[in-house]
Amino acid sequence: MLRVGFIGWRGMVGSVLLDRMRECGDFKGIESTFYSTSAAGGAGPTIDGVAHGLHDAYDLAALARHHVLISCQGGGYTTDVIGRLRQNGYQGYFIDAASTLRMESDAVLILDPVNLGVIQQGLHDGIKTYVGPNCTVSLMLMGMHGLFKAGLVEWVSTMTYQAASGAGAAHMRELLAQMAAVSDAVRPLLADPASNALALDTCVTETLRSGAIPSEHFGVPLAGSLIAWIDKAVEHGQTREEWKGFVEANKILGQQPAIAVDGLCVRVGAMRCHSQGLTIKLKRDLPMPEILDLLAQANPWVKLVANDKEATIRELSPAAVSGSLTVPVGRVHKLRMGPEYLSAFTVGDQLLWGAAEPLRRMLGILRQHLKA
Ligand code: HSE
Repeated sequence: MLRVGFIGWRGMVGSVLLDRMRECGDFKGIESTFYSTSAAGGAGPTIDGVAHGLHDAYDLAALARHHVLISCQGGGYTTDVIGRLRQNGYQGYFIDAASTLRMESDAVLILDPVNLGVIQQGLHDGIKTYVGPNCTVSLMLMGMHGLFKAGLVEWVSTMTYQAASGAGAAHMRELLAQMAAVSDAVRPLLADPASNALALDTCVTETLRSGAIPSEHFGVPLAGSLIAWIDKAVEHGQTREEWKGFVEANKILGQQPAIAVDGLCVRVGAMRCHSQGLTIKLKRDLPMPEILDLLAQANPWVKLVANDKEATIRELSPAAVSGSLTVPVGRVHKLRMGPEYLSAFTVGDQLLWGAAEPLRRMLGILRQHLKA
């Protein structure tokens, strides 16, 4: 039986992964072991009625017993423990949620609805490391899959509206604490029907600027505001999050020559769905029905949303998409810049297609591969 070790199963991505695996019956037919960096010897998850204990995530000999290791523990763990495990000659498969190994030449980025061919080539070539890509990149490619598949994309400009979950669980809590602080401050005015909107705004702005808003994690208020910077600076005025758009999208697609993907990444006060406004330069002018058809047919999860107000406000928002695998694409129309310039807006759950789902599906692909 395939022995699979899970590390970091209690965090957000790990929890979503376990929930999805339970939902899909993925634990059947594998021997699962759960590892912890902090609570070895304690109680782990209950899977199909069986209570699992927790093993030491630093026990290299125990880890090395597994055919497959899946880590949602984070980059530090990957560098330290998995690095040493590989140096000791570990030959098993490693499926990782962290960004650490993404650009290594012996690692494949996994988004199988879009790049199953690249994954299968990796398996055929004996590659053992499979890494979940950056969430924004995965969600953009899931939505725009049809245009990439048809080889129609000359370049993409991505303007993102990224949720708090992308920064981590503590940031999600902080966003809510900020919302609560603002609403506490404004409550008496809001309760007075005679108060006007400018007075409300003054109160909110003063509260946001007061320094009393919890901002240990974001550094500034996100509630009632936004943050036009994600991750650290790299070269050419870009942030690392923006840099990933280009390098990871092209690596996922196995694309040569590379397609230019660039833009600005912005944090907004959504909980777990990343949204993106896209400008796409097509290689040639195509009639709109053909474009819509390509987008809609690309994979079972993409859902075309009519470019009208009612459909857009109901279906194309974090509130509508949260917790779902559907990737809606809307606001699709040609831009004034010329017939090859297309706009689109897409939303996706950052913890599902953006993180856990490609890992879950990679385990399934590996099971098939090892059976064959
Ligand atoms: N880096 C992303 C973000 C999430 O900050 O939203 C992980 O891919």
